[in-house]
Amino acid sequence: MRSTPTVSLGEPFEITDNRIQTLYLQSSCFPQAVPEGHDVVEGLEQYPKVLPPKYFYDDRGSQLFEQICELPEYYPTRTEAWILHHYAPEIAQLTGSCELIELGSGSSTKTRLLLNAYQSYGYPLSYQPIDVSAGMLRESATQLLIDYPTLKVKAVVGTYEQALISLPRATISPRMLLFLGSTLGNLTPLQCDQFFTQVTTALDAGDYVLLGIDLQKDRAILEAAYNDSQGVTADFNLNMLRHLNYRYGGNFNLEFFHHQAIYNPVDCQIEMYLHCHQAQSVELKTINLNITLAQGEGIRTEISRKFNLQQMQQYLQTHGLSPLQIWTDPKQWFGVILCRR
Ligand code: AVJ
Repeated sequence: MRSTPTVSLGEPFEITDNRIQTLYLQSSCFPQAVPEGHDVVEGLEQYPKVLPPKYFYDDRGSQLFEQICELPEYYPTRTEAWILHHYAPEIAQLTGSCELIELGSGSSTKTRLLLNAYQSYGYPLSYQPIDVSAGMLRESATQLLIDYPTLKVKAVVGTYEQALISLPRATISPRMLLFLGSTLGNLTPLQCDQFFTQVTTALDAGDYVLLGIDLQKDRAILEAAYNDSQGVTADFNLNMLRHLNYRYGGNFNLEFFHHQAIYNPVDCQIEMYLHCHQAQSVELKTINLNITLAQGEGIRTEISRKFNLQQMQQYLQTHGLSPLQIWTDPKQWFGVILCRR
């Protein structure tokens, strides 16, 4: 179970310095929402079984993801970083001074490219990183405060839904919501629609969204990126079960599972599975869940959709976000879209 205490909504829990506030959001802060772990129950009672990708990101999973970003096969991070490195000044010029809010901030490494650009224009730096991994958030925010002496940080530990519902009104207007790394690809088309409804509700007219998306490309390149030769992606995938064991009193036997990632060309998505090579019964005590897994049965832990830039621009337009500019890399492997609410 989580060790973070419950706080009432909107109340800063931890003020360590006058430049940083940390807010911990929990399911119990949202009485009308579904209870903690309900998504796991729902996913594992389904056939085929699925688990929400947000459970990858306990502190250990976030560290494994950082290792994935450095892998030779995993091109998305460095390609997006290339785009931001080249075009952050243009992005800053287009938006003018604004407050940066980031969903799934992780290590905030790519965000630094934007902070550098806003800083070089002399804009005040205000940043709200949002992440489910408290450890990763604390570590990256601490380092940012050291490296950017004028930066103000409001760190939020919580899910995207929780954070968007409780997003405070703008202190610096406009705001820019960063959703980088193609995390959008983890959402099914239906979840994607719901997500953008939450985004446009949380933002004011004139606010910006900067969206990073992975683009369709040769299948071999995609599959290599999710089946790396060092096995880091396999560890990352299996770590989800370790996290669930810890968080919900579970007894998944990790040795009975192996990692698989395949490209589904019909839905244009990488699908990651944990395949069970020995039948087993699993109990997750604290969420009252008992399931059985047959030999050869798979649990789908992630979809990672690969997009088309033109289609995405139309999609955003019909969801209340007007694309202003798009940027891509020379191979057109990744795209970054700036839109305005
Ligand atoms: C962070 C969700 C974008 O889908 O590529 C990396 C996660 N999974 N390797 C992705 C991930 C396996 C990543 N996202």
